[in-house]
Amino acid sequence: MDDGERRRAEALRAPGSRRLHALARALVRMTLSSYCDVAPDRWSFAPGPGGKPRIAGPHDLRSLRFNLSHTDGLLALAVSRDCDVGVDVERLDPLADFEGLAEVAFAPCERDAVRAAATEQRAARFFRLWTAKEALLKAQGLGLGTVDPRAIIFDAEASPPRLARPGGAGPWSFRALRPTAAHVATLAVPAASVELQVGWATPGRRVTPPSGSRPLPGLSGRTPSRRAS
Ligand SMILES: CC(C)(COP(=O)(O)OP(=O)(O)OC[C@H]1O[C@@H](n2cnc3c(N)ncnc32)[C@H](O)[C@@H]1OP(=O)(O)O)[C@@H](O)C(=O)NCCC(=O)NCCS
Repeated sequence: MDDGERRRAEALRAPGSRRLHALARALVRMTLSSYCDVAPDRWSFAPGPGGKPRIAGPHDLRSLRFNLSHTDGLLALAVSRDCDVGVDVERLDPLADFEGLAEVAFAPCERDAVRAAATEQRAARFFRLWTAKEALLKAQGLGLGTVDPRAIIFDAEASPPRLARPGGAGPWSFRALRPTAAHVATLAVPAASVELQVGWATPGRRVTPPSGSRPLPGLSGRTPSRRAS
């Protein structure tokens, strides 16, 4: 961890939160290093205008983008190249206050779709929509308070998720993931097709970069011997 990350860790009171923070830093640094010859402790990060962390150095590797999400029992990290990416992971809580949360974050048609779902499907439908919205906001680097999530409307029946009204900001693609039986995640990218990998980390287990991650062709900071053929 760098000084800023250490200061943030020290500010966290609960030991569990401190451990999660450290695990997240390790997952980000080790995963980014799996794509190029940069030691995990050499990465530096800086927040974008909306607070989204981005790579600040090494300077020539800023084409790599990432986004992190944490929830009870799981961390998700999405990495992309040359385009923004957003990820959100949530634990499927069947006892969540769907009505109350949908009131503040869902459009009327989305609320109706959640209400219409069979009881055993309600949590999955709710969190699929929720994570899709949040992944889209996170891909754009927008935080709570800058956009009304009720204005971002998804087709509640679509799989993978699809915007009901795409708007003028170009195409968005979404990938629906189910990393465990208890977790739902969605990825958002502003393109029809991108090079993208997702890494997961579970508190209490060893951090490993995404399976199949390898040095990416064309990224500098690597030694020629590791260049992909
Ligand atoms: C940070 C934010 C964007 C997501 O918060 P969250 O759901 O509590 O947290 P997640 O676990 O999914 O993501 C946290 C990570 O996102 C990253 N992040 C921080 N600010 C971000 C931003 N503006 N954009 C994208 N990613 C951001 C960080 O890496 C952070 O982890 P870290 O603090 O350990 O580095 C939050 O401030 C927010 O505003 N979310 C929108 C929530 C919303 O409107 N929900 C309604 C349903 S759509």
